[in-house]
Amino acid sequence: MKRPGTIERLTVDHELIAAFLDHFIAYCRRIDRGEQPSPAPELVLEFIESFIERFHHAREEQILFEHLLRSSKFDRVMARRLVHDHHDARHHVDGMRQVLDMRTPDRRTAWVWNGLGYAQLTREHIAREARETYPAAASLIHPQDEALLAERFDRISPNEAEFWAAARELIVQMDQTLERAAGA
Ligand SMILES: [Fe+2]
Ligand SMILES: [Fe+2]
Repeated sequence: MKRPGTIERLTVDHELIAAFLDHFIAYCRRIDRGEQPSPAPELVLEFIESFIERFHHAREEQILFEHLLRSSKFDRVMARRLVHDHHDARHHVDGMRQVLDMRTPDRRTAWVWNGLGYAQLTREHIAREARETYPAAASLIHPQDEALLAERFDRISPNEAEFWAAARELIVQMDQTLERAAGA
């Protein structure tokens, strides 16, 4: 079976991130209403940090964008804007990390503000990448470079299948929690 290419692999990341964000927005709204968050915020934040920030954004910044910037045809302004989005998103993640213990209304508000900001920014960001960056990348990646990029992807994250499985598991868990909350 043919192995998925660079853009196909990143698109799987995006599908999982989009599904997670849908649930994450509902999760933040529940916190805003004063409900007990489940799964624990530590677990949810760990997913954001490990899967979206350290895994997916690293694949883009350190491998995809770096590779594309070797071509004069890749839009440098777009690349800078995307990396800027990644940095902005990290500020929201830091904001959530600072109020993990949500015992006071102020801390809950800070989590919700950062969480919803993160979700909106990341949703718009991945939509822009899917619409503009990935099609441009697909036309700029030479078929001969696919093996090199695949090897670099594997070097940065040898456990892609595990990351994807963990993401799906968390999404199912959040889904069940929301269903339980809706039925309560
Ligand atoms: Fe990105
Ligand atoms: Fe992305």
